[in-house]
Amino acid sequence: GPLRVLVFGASLRAGSANARLASLVARQISDTGATVDLAAMHEFDMPLYDGDVEAAHGLPSGALALRDRLERNDAFVISSPEYNASVPGVLKNAVDWVSRVQPQPFKTKHAMLVSASPSLVGGNRGLWALRVPLEHLGTRVYPDMFSLANCYQAFAEDGTLKDSGLQQRLTETVSGFLSLVEADMRYVCLERR
Ligand code: FNR
Repeated sequence: GPLRVLVFGASLRAGSANARLASLVARQISDTGATVDLAAMHEFDMPLYDGDVEAAHGLPSGALALRDRLERNDAFVISSPEYNASVPGVLKNAVDWVSRVQPQPFKTKHAMLVSASPSLVGGNRGLWALRVPLEHLGTRVYPDMFSLANCYQAFAEDGTLKDSGLQQRLTETVSGFLSLVEADMRYVCLERR
């Protein structure tokens, strides 16, 4: 069947620029015929990781929900803010909880990382920091990352990017990522025969 891709913004804010970027990426992915599963971080509400809570109750429902959504899809896209040049605690906490289940769903999945920030750098340092735990967990993180600078002014009414050159670059990044995932999945199918 068609490729299934989970897309979510990593900010809890209702007016999140990363949620807008996640929606735009989701629309572009579904335009290629792939199936998109668009999620929001507040669907994965969970307490701070605590080994005692885990020992007593196992994983919280928000972490299990994220695990299920990752497992149901072939690949995932995270649109994450950058906090103090790094990964927001909310996202790192979610990765930490989900990493506690076996089999661990980040392993061997392809991921694309994008960010939106009001700064001129676009949150790109946060994405480099996010690569570290994901690659540690075995995720194949797409080399090309897209960081949207000046994000509060960047979106047109229809949700696309006002700057056509940037919009073009985002489209190309998304299609490059999907081609890689598709090629890899075909290869895996051939290998299994
Ligand atoms: C920020 N912000 C920020 N932006 C940035 O480009 N580099 C940074 O290091 C930081 N650091 C930072 C720390 C903390 C604690 C907060 C709350 C914010 C600003 C951030 O990019 C901005 O709030 C975005 O709007 C957050 O993304 P959402 O919520 O709009 O998706």
